[in-house]
Amino acid sequence: MLYTPIKFRNIELKNRWVMSPMCMYSCENGIANDFHFVHYGSRAQGGTGLIVVEATGVEPRGRITKHCMGIWSDEQAEKLQRIVNFVHENSDSKIGIQLAHAGRKGSTWNNKQISIEEGWETIAPSSIPYHPSERIPHALSADEVKKQVQNFKEAAKRAVKAGFDIIEIHGAHGYLIHQFLSPLSNIRTDEYGGSFENRIRFLIEIVDAVNEVLNENTALFVRISGTEYAESGWDIESSVALAKVLKEHDVDLVDVSSGGNIHGAKIPVFDGYQVPFSSQIKNQASVKTGAVGLITQVDQAEEILQNGDADLVFIAREILRNPYIAVQGSFEMNEECFFPHQYTRAKIST
Ligand SMILES: Cc1cc2nc3c(=O)[nH]c(=O)nc-3n(C[C@H](O)[C@H](O)[C@H](O)COP(=O)(O)O)c2cc1C
Repeated sequence: MLYTPIKFRNIELKNRWVMSPMCMYSCENGIANDFHFVHYGSRAQGGTGLIVVEATGVEPRGRITKHCMGIWSDEQAEKLQRIVNFVHENSDSKIGIQLAHAGRKGSTWNNKQISIEEGWETIAPSSIPYHPSERIPHALSADEVKKQVQNFKEAAKRAVKAGFDIIEIHGAHGYLIHQFLSPLSNIRTDEYGGSFENRIRFLIEIVDAVNEVLNENTALFVRISGTEYAESGWDIESSVALAKVLKEHDVDLVDVSSGGNIHGAKIPVFDGYQVPFSSQIKNQASVKTGAVGLITQVDQAEEILQNGDADLVFIAREILRNPYIAVQGSFEMNEECFFPHQYTRAKIST
């Protein structure tokens, strides 16, 4: 299974290993540099089926920190294109990008909010800060919400031009889209708040706007938090219902993470702790899903796929430790996997 190809639109992944998006906080003005070129390039050398570039702000305020990646300018997209070209020309990997807006969780450094002067005024669906000690975010007007939808669309257009194979919309971890989804952070009384249909409207408008600039050669994923571990908050039943709507709106895969919207929420963490959410969404909404979270072993990843709990396995910290996990797994399982031809001699240890 791990080495069974899978197709999303015309994009075929050679294996089911995905490098999960991970902020590297290493950009100036949101621009990728040599660090990113080597960082993502090495995971392509490592045979990873799909590499997802870190959360990338669709506007300056969409970043978590000043050193996060951005894609609100052509210059930013051009630097990303260099990485995309390397991956396409030197490996079998596909490469995606996670489009994001931090909302009320922006303007930080070292996980602490910084001043407006050093950072920026944060935005949110409602004037509720993530933590009571933080500034009250600016509650977006309906027109400003529409402007954010356009920001995602423009960012997707640039990403397509740069050659990305997959766009992932970041709807998880308490960032702007998740803030709209949750009744605990969204207490609006207009068409973007209140009922489930109204709270998911922002995300669905983004999905539709992004899909307008995609075709069969770029697939669309959405990352969500399966639950936010809070009473009366966003929960797994809401996620299943959302996944059904996403499928109707031509989303190819739901990448299932959890948490991030409620400060102090208790998260029971254990190996593969988010896999059950992926499984429930996959089986009850009949959508393709990705599982993520404390997946570190080849046989563990294989079992998740064999059990029908997910279609892709996203790995984050383990692939930072071991960029070659996909190749290594293929050696262990006697499966085919891309390995740079320059490295062929390493296939035989004697
Ligand atoms: C350094 C670091 C940065 C991260 N940045 C992002 C991000 O940009 N977008 C996102 O959706 N998740 C982000 N995450 C979460 C990971 O994608 C992943 O969901 C999480 O680490 C659990 O997987 P793991 O146990 O394999 O590390 C980040 C995680 C780490 C460790």
